[in-house]
Amino acid sequence: MRRSLPLAAGLLACLPALADYPDKPVTLVVPFAAGGPTDKVARDLAEALRKPLGATLIIENIGGVGGTLGANRVAKAAPDGYTLLLHHIGLASATALYRTLPYKTLEDFEYLGMVNEVPMTLVGRASLPANTYAELARWLDANKGKINLAHAGTGSASHLCGLLFQAAIKIDMTTVPYKGTAPAMNDLLGGQVDIMCDQTTNTTGQIESGKVKAYVVTTTKRLAAPALAKLPTAEEAGLKGFNVSVWHGLYAPRGTPKAVVDKINAALRVALTDADFHKRQEALGAVIINDARLAPAEHKKFVEAEINKLGPVIKAAGQYAD
Ligand code: MLT
Repeated sequence: MRRSLPLAAGLLACLPALADYPDKPVTLVVPFAAGGPTDKVARDLAEALRKPLGATLIIENIGGVGGTLGANRVAKAAPDGYTLLLHHIGLASATALYRTLPYKTLEDFEYLGMVNEVPMTLVGRASLPANTYAELARWLDANKGKINLAHAGTGSASHLCGLLFQAAIKIDMTTVPYKGTAPAMNDLLGGQVDIMCDQTTNTTGQIESGKVKAYVVTTTKRLAAPALAKLPTAEEAGLKGFNVSVWHGLYAPRGTPKAVVDKINAALRVALTDADFHKRQEALGAVIINDARLAPAEHKKFVEAEINKLGPVIKAAGQYAD
């Protein structure tokens, strides 16, 4: 019986901490640079989670290697509920794109529930001599070998979208990686790069102000947001099989106690009904998740299905992968 004593003592020792969770600020890791689309979702979510979770969430931006550095920081963090990760489709595409990753996507995280889906837009520098997708297609064809496409690193959503775009039009481009699409957008605004495929949470304001040119949205239906409603879908523009919607989910390190996982999931469900969160996200084209994928088990099943779906898609586009 003595063998079970240390284990029981260990469990008892952590019970007060569990009961009081959270009793200090929680770190929310964003695996891309501040100011980009992932960061925008995270900051809106942190505000909506503050009350239902009963803690301040402090954003920590860890960009680099297509989001895998930040993901690994959380995979290796203490499983105590005080280090969480907000990540997106890149968690799945990186699994298909990297031969080795410093973490195991389906084993090293607790899945806490999904957050939203964000459409992508194909945007270009304001000085591009192309105002419609047809004109852009002609310009791309005439400038083969001289086109620079920006993204947030191999495995990021912008990289995946760029990969699928190159495969759809069969034109190879010079791809320029950044620690996030906030710095990438700066170079697009400055004319240092030609085009980028990025989430509407980062491009809507620039499209509205005319600082970038917008060509298509990557959703199967046109978007409701006023600044984006006039944009044709990729399908309408003749781009077959080029549909990308960037889903976001919340994660904790594997081994985070179930009571803590359940508390965070319950708080997430409340946060996603927050009126201000809805208003801010929907104004940028995002759609809040309100289905079975709010549950951790369904969230994990969805990500596994996405990994299995994206693998062959990325392999087929492989000649364009960095
Ligand atoms: C991406 O995957 O492209 C990221 O969302 C970019 C970012 O958030 O900075």
